[in-house]
Amino acid sequence: MKFITVKTYEELSEKAADIIASQIIVKPNCVLGLATGSSPVGTYKRLIKDNENGKIDFSTVTSVNLDEYVGLDVTNDQSYRYFMNDNFFNHVNIDKSKTFVPNGCAADLKAEGEAYDKMIKDLGGIDLQLLGIGLDGHIGFNEPDSCFVGPTHEVTLDESTIKANARFFANEDEVPKTAITMGMMSIMQARKILLVANGAAKKEIIEKSFFGPITPEVPASILQLHPDVTVIFSEN
Ligand code: F6R
Repeated sequence: MKFITVKTYEELSEKAADIIASQIIVKPNCVLGLATGSSPVGTYKRLIKDNENGKIDFSTVTSVNLDEYVGLDVTNDQSYRYFMNDNFFNHVNIDKSKTFVPNGCAADLKAEGEAYDKMIKDLGGIDLQLLGIGLDGHIGFNEPDSCFVGPTHEVTLDESTIKANARFFANEDEVPKTAITMGMMSIMQARKILLVANGAAKKEIIEKSFFGPITPEVPASILQLHPDVTVIFSEN
């Protein structure tokens, strides 16, 4: 594991964007695993600049996102599809038909999960997976549990996740209680993993995840078993 500590969120975002840019330069038709939440927003901003100034070209890139709230569709400004369009896809030359987010409105979420994993497999797997981390150690929406769950699946969000994400909604009651998330299988099968975390509040869970025991009670701790992980952390 490569653990990089930087001083500012700007530095974190610049480094993360550089790693993603290198991936695209090395393999222009790569599959990027993408995340939502506030942690990668700065990275997306840098990538948009890099695209504008001609440093990277997204035209042959495919993307697969980690997760989506159950019941929110693209027209809802809190859906993760809306977030990705708004914060990233609408501003770069990616082919939108090659950007995938699990469908949280699917009638059969189990079938949606199976189809999502099959699609990732058919794409040849994920070359580089970008991750954030929740205060409870979740990656994607894989919450603390008694076992690591492999396939893309429906989850009940933890109370702490609902509270943390309430900042994006009118109030806590508006936060969906369930989501569909890529499971540990597709995440761990990604060839490279890049996790970004910022803020003093994340320090403790970062320590637990990467320097503590590997346990499903701290979902991100499974990443200690991955052969190519880069963590970028800034306390500010
Ligand atoms: C989002 C996701 C989540 C977030 C995590 C941290 O697609 O998968 O695991 O990365 O909840 O969120 P922020 O970055 O808002 O602290």
